[in-house]
Parts: sequence; C-alpha cells; structure tokens
Amino acid sequence: MRVLVVAGARPNFMKVAPIVAELGRRGIEAPLVHTGQHYDARMSDTFFRDLDIPAPDFHLGVGSGSHAVQTAGVMTAFEPVLREVRPDWVVVVGDVNSTLACALVTAKLKPELGCRVAHVEAGLRSGDWAMPEEVNRVLTDRLSDLLLTPSRDAHANLRAEGIADAQVVFAGNVMIDTLFAQLPAARALGLLDELALPRGGYAVVTLHRPSMVDDARALAETLGALAEAAREMPVVFPMHPRTRQNVEAFGLAPMLHGVRVVEPLGYRAMLALTDGSAVVLTDSGGLQEETTSLGVPCVTLREQTERPVTVTQGTNRLAPWPLTRDGILSSFREAAAEGRREPGARAPEGWDGRAAERVVAALRERCAPPREAVR
Ligand code: UD1
Repeated sequence: MRVLVVAGARPNFMKVAPIVAELGRRGIEAPLVHTGQHYDARMSDTFFRDLDIPAPDFHLGVGSGSHAVQTAGVMTAFEPVLREVRPDWVVVVGDVNSTLACALVTAKLKPELGCRVAHVEAGLRSGDWAMPEEVNRVLTDRLSDLLLTPSRDAHANLRAEGIADAQVVFAGNVMIDTLFAQLPAARALGLLDELALPRGGYAVVTLHRPSMVDDARALAETLGALAEAAREMPVVFPMHPRTRQNVEAFGLAPMLHGVRVVEPLGYRAMLALTDGSAVVLTDSGGLQEETTSLGVPCVTLREQTERPVTVTQGTNRLAPWPLTRDGILSSFREAAAEGRREPGARAPEGWDGRAAERVVAALRERCAPPREAVR
C-alpha cells in the first residue's frame, strides 16, 4: 500500500503528524506533500520541527492568493505529483483550501490511476455556507471514498447528505493524539515563567476568521472586550498575520491597550500557553477541541460551531451573537468563574490519543483492489 499524505496550512500539521508517524511504524510507504498554503516560518516550519514531521517529499510552494487562485494553484501543482506517485490512497485532513483542491484532483484521476481519497475529520458541519471551510468540508466529503470522522455526530450529518454508511468510519480525533503526545514537552518549556504568567490566572485569545477580522465592527467590539478583560487578568494574544494587517488597516491598534500581543506561536508554545490558562477566547476550530481535552473553559467567538461536542460534553460555549463587547465580556466572566477541569475529564469518545491507529487500520482494511481490477 502507498499513501500520499497532504498538508497545507497550519491547522493541518498537527493532524498529519500522528498519521505520518503511524504509517511509518507500520512500514507503509507514505510520501508527504506540503502545498505551501502557509509558508511563514511561524505558520509552517516551526510546526514541522515541534511535531517531528519529516521534511515534505514534495513542496508545491503555492502561497497566498484569492480562494480561486490558491485552490487552482494547488490543483495544478498537485496533479503531476499524483501521476508520479500513483498512490493507493490520498489522505487529506481538515477543511482548508488545500484539502479540497487535492481531493478534487484525486477524484478526477481515480478512473485512470485507481487512487482514492480518504478524508480525516469528515462530517463536521457548521451549517454556514458563507464560511469557506464549510464549502471545503461538504465538497471534500462528497469527493471522498473513505470518510474518517472525529466524533459520532458527524455520522448523522453525512447520512443526511446521502453518503453511504459503508464509506464512513469512526476514527476519533487525530489532533488530540498530537496534544497528548506533546503535552509533556510543552509543559517542560517553562514558557509561563518566561512570560511571567500565573498558572491558571490569565486568558489566551486567537482570532483569524475573515467573518470576524475582516469586519471592522465585529473586530472593534471584540478588541473592546479584550481590553476590558485585561483589567481583570492578563490577556495574551498571539496574532495571526491576517488579523495584524486588519487591526492596522482599521486603525484599531490603540484599542489593544493592556493586551499582550505576541507573534503567532509554534505548536508546543501554544499548547503550553493554552494548558496554563484560565480561559481561552477564540474563533479557531482546533482550539475548541484542544481546550475541551485540556479542561480549559473556552469562549467561541462565532455564530455557530461545527464541533458541537465541545459544547455538549466539553468546556466550550458560544458568545452571544451578534458579537458585542458586553456579550463577550459576560461569556468571558462566566467561563472564568466556571474554572478548569482535570485534563481528559469527560473527553468525547475517540479523543484518546489513538485516532491515527484507527485511521491507518481503516486504510489498510480498505486498501484498493489490484489495479487491473479498477474499472
Ligand atoms: C487558512 C484556512 C483556515 C485556517 C487558517 C489557519 C482556508 C479557506 N482557510 O485561513 O481554515 O483556520 O488557515 O491559519 O484554507 N499569511 C502569511 N503567512 C502565511 C500564511 C498566510 O502572512 O504563512 C497571510 C497572507 O497575507 C494571507 C493571509 O495570511 O493572505 C491569509 O492566509 P490564508 O492561508 O489565505 O488563509 P487563512 O486566513 O490563514
């Protein structure tokens, strides 16, 4: 069996790391493609180092651009790689533009090459078709031969879209494999001492979604709430490049008075920061899951979440919508008052550090028939 693994953007790296490692342990040939959707050292290289991901076998160097330019760029650059490698499986993870682009190329070449698509993190739905990731999720799932889900609620979503149960396998959450594997190293960094942060006594913020940071009103309300929260406890804000550009473009930088803005952090440093915090405020999907596993209260600054299990079983809540300074502040105070849980307490099923084993087992069980048999 030969498996071509695709990663492109920051949230992909922690998902492919345990899959690449497990494929390696099983002696399965597994070349890695980096599409280059994210390319800054802080958005990419540091994750490869922190997560011990081998250097990519193929780097497509696609970079930034509009959705059309970026998606088409990945497709054009990926096609010759697929022809060269001729894998049995192409494994795509998550919901970024690179995920959809490589799934689409693979589906189109399947009749010729016999390669199939496996989607890790299948079946998540926000129901918000204005969200680029939602378009990517729905279309990637439709193009996939094997759909590996992180939580049971995903199965109902897929069934409702007419996807056959036989194509769907419950795998659990591969990102949590990485979290458990890296937690000891993260804690050993001594980051809290370095930043003089009291363990369990500060807030962490991340924001990067266009629906939030491209909207001057939503961004201003949020920054107003953060400045107020910073009067109650230290607030640390590793800022995504897109957010930084917009804070400056909208002239909102003075609102961040009292908030500790830092550069985007590597995986281990971010995990250490999250693990030590009292509360996280975020629009990220991954952080909603990581905080649930770590037992840290989370306030999600979005209208809805494609990860409802983090609310029903985890530590997550949605801030009142539309976002206002006061709504965010009251959610922040509620979350902080609720306090932390033991890490792993009430963990959703399959968020157990063994999801990559189940992913690779499913790939092996369903490995393509001999190429002659492919019609
Ligand atoms: C992408 C994903 C999003 C994911 C996020 C994590 C899609 C549709 N979106 O959004 O799901 O949560 O990554 O970060 O795929 N930039 C840099 N350096 C980089 C990468 C980007 O400076 O290494 C800047 C560029 O100005 C770029 C902007 O950030 O235009 C946005 O990057 P892009 O990859 O297009 O989308 P994200 O908003 O990061």
